[in-house]
Amino acid sequence: MEKLRREVFEKLEQYGQEQVFRFWDELNNDERLSLCRQAGRMDIDRLTGIIDVLLEREKNQEGSHQWKVPFSPASYISLPLDETSRCRWEDAYNLGEQILNEGCVAVLTAAGGQGTRLGFEGPKGAFAVTPVKGKSLFQIFAEKIRFAEKRYGNPIHWFIMTSDRNHNEIIGFFGKNNSFNLSNVHFIKQGSLAAVTTEGKIMLEDKWHIAMHPDGHGGAFRAFVASGANAMLEAQNIDIISYSQIDNPLTPIIDPYFIGFHKKNQSQISSRMILKTYPEEKVGVFCLIYGRPAVVEYSDLPTDQAIERDRSGTLRFKTGNAGIHLFDRNFFTLLGTEMNGYILPLHMAKKKIPTIDAHGKPIDPEMPNGIKFETFIFDALQFAEHSIIVEGDRKAIFSPIKNAVGLDSPKTCLQDQVRLFSKWLVAAGSDMPIDAKGLPPFNIEVSPLFADNERDFLMKWIHLEKRPTISSGSYIE
Ligand code: UTP
Repeated sequence: MEKLRREVFEKLEQYGQEQVFRFWDELNNDERLSLCRQAGRMDIDRLTGIIDVLLEREKNQEGSHQWKVPFSPASYISLPLDETSRCRWEDAYNLGEQILNEGCVAVLTAAGGQGTRLGFEGPKGAFAVTPVKGKSLFQIFAEKIRFAEKRYGNPIHWFIMTSDRNHNEIIGFFGKNNSFNLSNVHFIKQGSLAAVTTEGKIMLEDKWHIAMHPDGHGGAFRAFVASGANAMLEAQNIDIISYSQIDNPLTPIIDPYFIGFHKKNQSQISSRMILKTYPEEKVGVFCLIYGRPAVVEYSDLPTDQAIERDRSGTLRFKTGNAGIHLFDRNFFTLLGTEMNGYILPLHMAKKKIPTIDAHGKPIDPEMPNGIKFETFIFDALQFAEHSIIVEGDRKAIFSPIKNAVGLDSPKTCLQDQVRLFSKWLVAAGSDMPIDAKGLPPFNIEVSPLFADNERDFLMKWIHLEKRPTISSGSYIE
């Protein structure tokens, strides 16, 4: 241990971060070893580079606003409005099905976040969300994959991105649930970065733990390559990675339309967009910056632009980012190896970071007291020569769980699911009661093992020998 201690002490001292060891004399041997190991694993060179940029920005009072350049709304492939576009969508669907039949798509789910706003004890993926069965987010995703495996006759690799904060718990959850009867589940752990004070000093969570946090969903690129996932897919000729985030149970993870458009356009990154419902909605918007699509975070969109409307009254910046992308595997690998300058920018955010005071007493701050650094998956857009944005029907594909109550909460998500299932049933001819908001007076649920979208639902429903009567607690599988 002495050798390790000397090494990490010297390295941190060299960068002016020796405060990490300020409680050293009070620690027992196990605690000392734990702190040394954690400090030794930290990529201090990377972190120091980041801190320098941070201090420079603070000095110049640039804040976190990244976009100092003009931007305009990005164009996108809209949902079919007429016969011509319907044909285009149908062609994309057929191509997508062909690719799925060839087994060329793998799924990647970002589940490494801390879920701070939801405040659930445990990984967000284990949170129960469905209206009747109370299935977890992980189970829904798993069932969507099982449905696709059966339909296309190919095994589908499912990569789940975890972080130091939840890796063991997620593995335990899958173990307890027998991996939801899937055979190709892989867990890939993203990197972590230390939180720092506004003066750039690494923070402690307690006397022998550095305050570490996952490095953002953009950590998926590095994690994918570091885990060998890219090499495995290359060996199996799987060249499309379907990326999405665990917090949205409506995500169409295997969508032939989207896959078809992606392939037809030889896109390196294809993104799903949903129309924003109100100007201040907390979603990033797809914009054009120097002629290339990019996502401008809601916090970076100036209010005058956020509220701007065209003559018809439609928001000018209306193209919300649904957090759903398809990636070309080679492009993904370039970002994961950071070769040829493919290095994602770092974003910093002032956050409330649980820490300790000068006497080692815990502080649970009420105001932001430190800075976290993250990379974002959508920043890959700026490196792509070919990319497309495809509209999705918001009510059918987007209902994330972010907050414990209010907007984007378990309650709104449950209603959105019931509303969607009811819409499918009504389209199939059911005379179930529906109010003006599209909701029945009871909860119902359709399993992804039966159908995950209206098209498949209608197909299946028509062929049912005995159709169930829909009432409170109906569950269709
Ligand atoms: P959010 O940015 O909404 O974060 O992540 P979160 O962890 O769910 O919730 P808060 O902000 O702490 O309340 C969107 C998606 O990206 C994943 C999350 O798991 C979620 O599915 N994510 C986020 C990661 O996988 N890693 C990260 O470092 C951050």
